[in-house]
Amino acid sequence: MHAAVPDGATIVELGAGAGRVTRGLLELGHEVVAVDESPEMLAHIRGARTICASIETLSLAERFDVVLLASYLVNETNDSLRASWLAACERQLAPDGCVIVQRHGLSWFDRAQPYERVTGGITLRLREVSRPTPDLLAATMEYEHDGRRWTHSYTHCRMDDDRLEAELARAGLRVDSYLTDDRGWLRARR
Ligand SMILES: C[S@@+](CC[C@H](N)C(=O)[O-])C[C@H]1O[C@@H](n2cnc3c(N)ncnc32)[C@H](O)[C@@H]1O
Repeated sequence: MHAAVPDGATIVELGAGAGRVTRGLLELGHEVVAVDESPEMLAHIRGARTICASIETLSLAERFDVVLLASYLVNETNDSLRASWLAACERQLAPDGCVIVQRHGLSWFDRAQPYERVTGGITLRLREVSRPTPDLLAATMEYEHDGRRWTHSYTHCRMDDDRLEAELARAGLRVDSYLTDDRGWLRARR
């Protein structure tokens, strides 16, 4: 992400959560405004201005060099909600700015299978993977640490290039480049 934007770019991070990504961006010299609708998540963020708001109603007077919509939010199944998030990306963008989007890579909907792996002392398990339709994938992510478990169940919607590019266009945005081989990360401009 850092390599895809100018040094020192100002960033508004939509759905920033507890600041996992925010922290890295701050360390790389970016000024970050972290937006999330959960005050409990935002309470963990240090070093960035936080705004507790829904992305769909976000309307800040400031414009940013970069708007970040990561964490597969663009794979939201609710079409109108997703459209409102892309519209918010465009609203907050500086004239020469760019939107960085993370979606599931192209093969994920066809290939995702249950797994278990350990990273940073946390056991991650992807469970209950199902495909209600060819374009939907439902699963539960489980995190286990120190005998405690948290689960997050979700259903995500396939966003292939044509669909994503059409939806970006409706928000006044066009893909400028795909940043990763799996085309999961992309950069868009007005
Ligand atoms: C999976 S977490 C990702 C957090 C962070 N981006 C990361 O990668 O660690 C998604 C976050 O988006 C927030 N979120 C979901 N829907 C939202 C909405 N409509 N408006 C604002 N925040 C939202 C949730 O509260 C949650 O903190």
